[in-house]
Amino acid sequence: MKTPRGFFKPLAIGAPEPLREPPARVERMIHFVPPHLEKVRAKVPEIARDVDVILGNLEDAIPADAKEAARAGFIEMANATDFAAMGVGLWTRVNCLNSPWHLDDVTQIVAGVGDRLDVMMIPKVEGPWDIHYIDQLLALLEARHGLKKPILLHAILETAEGVNNVEAIAAASPRMQGISLGPADLAASRRMKTTRVGGGHPFYKVVEDPRADGGPRVGAQQDIWHYTFAKMVDACAAAGINAFYGPFGDIADLEACEQQFRNAFLLGCVGAWSLHPNQIAIAKQVFSPDPGEVAFAKRILEAMPDGAGVVMLDGKMQDDATWKQAKVMVDSARQIAA
Ligand code: GLV
Ligand code: MG
Repeated sequence: MKTPRGFFKPLAIGAPEPLREPPARVERMIHFVPPHLEKVRAKVPEIARDVDVILGNLEDAIPADAKEAARAGFIEMANATDFAAMGVGLWTRVNCLNSPWHLDDVTQIVAGVGDRLDVMMIPKVEGPWDIHYIDQLLALLEARHGLKKPILLHAILETAEGVNNVEAIAAASPRMQGISLGPADLAASRRMKTTRVGGGHPFYKVVEDPRADGGPRVGAQQDIWHYTFAKMVDACAAAGINAFYGPFGDIADLEACEQQFRNAFLLGCVGAWSLHPNQIAIAKQVFSPDPGEVAFAKRILEAMPDGAGVVMLDGKMQDDATWKQAKVMVDSARQIAA
């Protein structure tokens, strides 16, 4: 599991220390389905063939008068298909901790789904105290219902207070599996002036300096979410858990979706949410390392079998640090191929 924090570990020269183990499961896309809709539930076994993770959403986007039907529908869907046998992760997003549905979501799902549930996604997490509470509640329910494996937790980072506390949230419990950015709620919490779900914004840009010839000045769009993603990825990496992009709401703009996912992948995220079947293939492709990059990474590993020293490959310097970068890439490709 995780390395205890705060202990100095001497490096063995000539035997490179293995980096953090890659995640046990490939989780390139967390595919959201609304489980109160019978016709969606009927399609779930087919959808599951194409995804790494299927998630029954009980929170936002599920109308208040359908909350109980969504919970019951999720329990039915979880028991109708053996997702584990298909190699597919089964997650749910429960309602937030201070909502009228939260307690019934957690208690009824642990009772009704049991060990079939891999991860419970918790929205609007504000600090480690939210994780401590759910950690203890799950421990009680797991004992009561005789579960054999702990249910893992995934926090959505979607309030300003949550962003302030992201490091403590990431390290709050051994159950923590990962964190996703929730840009829609976070935008509202921060009083950002946008109505978008993730992605760029045409008004957020930097204009070039005035031109000597008085001609029109060009402005380039900047990434409105970069700071938050970088902070979240660092917090997750430091705690040994995974970072995820979260949702991209402009379902029709596949090009922008792909670029957003690609930026997140480069920055260290392992996956994103897919809100529509069109986003599944994009996530699958983007969150799998590029074969050309993997081939080069393998050459680095082969050129430096003990992970130390310096070599030149195609005019580029390689050393202990690039060996580690290459190992991340090769491990990730192996895991996806497995
Ligand atoms: C997701 O839940 C978001 O608020 O963006
Ligand atoms: Mg949200």
